[in-house]
Amino acid sequence: MFASSSEPPTCAPTGQAIHLTGLSKKFGSVQALEGVSLEVADGEIYGLVGPDGAGKTTLIRLACGVLKPDAGSVSLCGFLMAQDTEQARAQVGYLAQRFAIYEDMTVMENLRFFAEVRGLKADYWKARARQLLDFVGLAEFTSRRAGQLSGGMKQKLGLALALISQPRVLLLDEPTTGVDPATRLDFWRVIIHLVNQENLAVLVSTPYMDEAARCTRIGFLRNGRLIREGKPRELRNLLSGKILELAGEPLPLLIQLSKANQAVENAQRFGNSVHLRVREGKTEETAQQLQEAIHHAGGTVTRLQTIEAQLEDVFIALAEEMG
Ligand SMILES: Nc1ncnc2c1ncn2[C@@H]1O[C@H](COP(=O)(O)OP(=O)(O)OP(=O)(O)O)[C@@H](O)[C@H]1O
Ligand SMILES: [Mg+2]
Repeated sequence: MFASSSEPPTCAPTGQAIHLTGLSKKFGSVQALEGVSLEVADGEIYGLVGPDGAGKTTLIRLACGVLKPDAGSVSLCGFLMAQDTEQARAQVGYLAQRFAIYEDMTVMENLRFFAEVRGLKADYWKARARQLLDFVGLAEFTSRRAGQLSGGMKQKLGLALALISQPRVLLLDEPTTGVDPATRLDFWRVIIHLVNQENLAVLVSTPYMDEAARCTRIGFLRNGRLIREGKPRELRNLLSGKILELAGEPLPLLIQLSKANQAVENAQRFGNSVHLRVREGKTEETAQQLQEAIHHAGGTVTRLQTIEAQLEDVFIALAEEMG
């Protein structure tokens, strides 16, 4: 299976690389997931977003076979996790939300250990390890102890470990949480490069909207249910014509007056401005009312205009039970 050719193994031609159907999982009295179905094709990056406790980790753990579902099925590259467990698992590279690397071992020793656990032959994994270390930018650090890597470098090593067996399916659970923005960007460049090179199917959870925006499709989980999915552009269009951007002084007054307006569903600070989500068809009228109210209260308005919704706006709306 782990041929040393440069061609990665391909999925069975039928079906999607990741095919999750009706997945449910309960922990005690907590329904962590309920009837979640989703598909990810080769070459796609599917982003999972949603509030803390929404079920993202549970879904990813079910997808890689670490957990068994109460109902529903997982199929990876045509192999059913419940029946063809070994073949299904062999398709997966998994980077857990809190993953373990061996801090006393060097970068290369970690790769070797993971490769041997996976039963890979030395001539195969050595070549693959070199390629991956180049990919993730750790080629110069092969003999550094993993415990002495920076946070971002540890995440990159985690990614290399997940990829050592040349999986078709990559499952990443918040791979960049707590990593600085420049390193996050770097990490995503690697992921996108990998997807292009190896045509992987990626399922990734993230709390960062700039990362969600890089995904082919995004699914929004809330209370264990997949309540919305679509391309980033489609999700942003859900709120078209509903977002007002308001800037001026003083910002707390602007927010207070916005919240007091009946047509304003949500007012959220975005840097030096405020995004207002306004009831359908009410933006012009509301903008005029706010302009007057702010002047009347002694504030100033430097910008008040309809703008395109950002993904953040959409997720706030979805978290508040829209649709
Ligand atoms: N092993 C477990 N035992 C008991 N409850 C669990 C277990 N794993 C998850 N849960 C519960 O299931 C729900 C979903 O948890 P999950 O970790 O999947 O959410 P999440 O979306 O990954 O959250 P976060 O953003 O905080 O990582 C939560 O209410 C959580 O407390
Ligand atoms: Mg989680």
